[in-house]
Amino acid sequence: MCGIVGYIGSKSVIPILINGLSKLEYRGYDSAGVAVYKGGEIETYKAQGKLQKLKDLLGTNGNGDNANKIGIGHIRWATHGAPTEINAHPHVSCCKKIAIVHNGIIENFKELKEELTKKGHVFVSQTDTETIAHLIEENLKTHPDIFDAVRHSLKKLEGAYAIGVVYKDNPDILIAARKNAPLIVGIGENENYIGSDVPAILEYTKNVIYLDDSEIAEIKADDVKIYDFDGNVIKKKIECVPWEPVALSKMGYKHFMLKEIHEQPDVIRQTLSERLISSDLPLQLNEVKLTKESLKKLNRIQIIACGTSLHAAMAGKYLIEEFIGIPVDIEASSEYIYKRTISSANSLVIGVSQSGETADTITAIRQAKAEGAHALVITNRVDSTMAREADSLLPINAGIEVSVAATKSYTAQLIAFYLLAIYLAEIKEALPAKDIIKFKEQLFKLPQQVEIILGNKTEIKRCARKFHNAKDFIFIARGINFPAALEGALKLKEISYINATGYPAGELKHGPIAMLEDTIPVLAILMPGLVYEKVLSNSEEAKARDAKMIALTSSNDKHLESVFDFIIKIPDIDEIFSPILTTIPLQLLAYYIAEFLGKDVDQPRNLAKSVTVE
Ligand code: M6R
Repeated sequence: MCGIVGYIGSKSVIPILINGLSKLEYRGYDSAGVAVYKGGEIETYKAQGKLQKLKDLLGTNGNGDNANKIGIGHIRWATHGAPTEINAHPHVSCCKKIAIVHNGIIENFKELKEELTKKGHVFVSQTDTETIAHLIEENLKTHPDIFDAVRHSLKKLEGAYAIGVVYKDNPDILIAARKNAPLIVGIGENENYIGSDVPAILEYTKNVIYLDDSEIAEIKADDVKIYDFDGNVIKKKIECVPWEPVALSKMGYKHFMLKEIHEQPDVIRQTLSERLISSDLPLQLNEVKLTKESLKKLNRIQIIACGTSLHAAMAGKYLIEEFIGIPVDIEASSEYIYKRTISSANSLVIGVSQSGETADTITAIRQAKAEGAHALVITNRVDSTMAREADSLLPINAGIEVSVAATKSYTAQLIAFYLLAIYLAEIKEALPAKDIIKFKEQLFKLPQQVEIILGNKTEIKRCARKFHNAKDFIFIARGINFPAALEGALKLKEISYINATGYPAGELKHGPIAMLEDTIPVLAILMPGLVYEKVLSNSEEAKARDAKMIALTSSNDKHLESVFDFIIKIPDIDEIFSPILTTIPLQLLAYYIAEFLGKDVDQPRNLAKSVTVE
């Protein structure tokens, strides 16, 4: 949700800001802007639409004035006010001396705006952000030092924010602060940076300081100081991020999504590595701090997540209940946080999040922790807020995921749940040793099986070609594959805008079957095992209502040909592990359909990769 970048140093600032914003485009892309110190003034340039519009405005090479040495940039995902040029950041104060970029939501902006308007401030945008620029200007009257003025202003703000501020009368200082929204400071040689996320600055430095909540940074070209909002100095670690800039390239693929789908065999290997050493050795989940004693006292497991991560959580519930027999509740984080929190010292709360920065999930974890629960976080970002606040951590090691549609992180989250469920079963001695060995052997085989599916893309592409004009799409499955049906539907609607819905196959006849007719494809996940016959008869019921039937299956059953118009074959696998394999063709199906429809695959409309506002 919105990306911030900032620079102070001796290099030409606009190219650095534009390059940083291009790496943050996944966070939002409805307008963009920069503010730079130029010719003794703060100049702002803003454009509605994708970053390219701002690049066009700034000139083909985006170089601007080479003398600039301080600036801030922003890429927006609109919350308050339409995505227009006026509402694009940076926002400036009345005197145009202060420019600010902001990610988050200022909850008390209406009251502040009223107060400031009475004092003579004139607002030009509909945003909550503009309030901060005017508030700082107001505070400059009593705190003439810009850093103090910003610090005092922050104390009046309610809500979530990461901000970057530049000031005309002191162009040697860049100010950054955060509360409930991510922000990092990048440390260079006689130059420093700010960014909403590491990719924004990775090309220039790997050394970063992660700001924590209620911290403000005073950044000069050759010095960085961090303070709390009361002005006390805070000692912070400079950390070295483990990524290479190449992780942010498409590596010859047309889209990041396709590249990320293809990375999945390696991602699985990576998630398993150093944890699954051999099938006859116990799993090594070193950052999971649950002992046999603490597990004995557990009376509740709750898993909280949003979107795709919520689907991984649903599969996780199935696995944990199946392997250790403790009941598990799953809840969308946004639902969890607005009711009584029923967690306690005997609860384990598992937060699942690719980014580790999803605002609702962070709040949910904090609420559960406040009630005494042990918080285990499954995330792709060990440098995220969630990871840093967790009691136990299960990193998924999927590498940077750029495409807004989550693919490889979902598969890695599923792997994490297999590892966790087996690990808990080992500690609790809940399963026979021979079953655990068999499960681990299956985990080792997964990357190769995924490679087979990726080698058979032509069939999936053919299926996409056949059905890409459908207006509605239904995905059905039962048991452990039900979350895969939901995820397949989410992927499709997210990037192709087709109305796609996932149902437990048995629910079809309780309502949704009324919609069926010959224009609606119904994709059934039909893996041999406990529910195979059931899903097959649910598919026959749909077929009898003229729906176009697609099977995703490993079965060689000849009878399927009389029920299904299209059959996507995947390798044979034990039903309980099959969601790893059933997910991949559904990702590819969504990808190719969106491609045939000419959609913007990596940056679907209205979405942002990281949802850092509630
Ligand atoms: O970073 P998180 O996993 O917490 O993000 C949760 C959702 O916003 C995310 O999964 C979203 O649904 C994706 N766009 C799905 O592709």
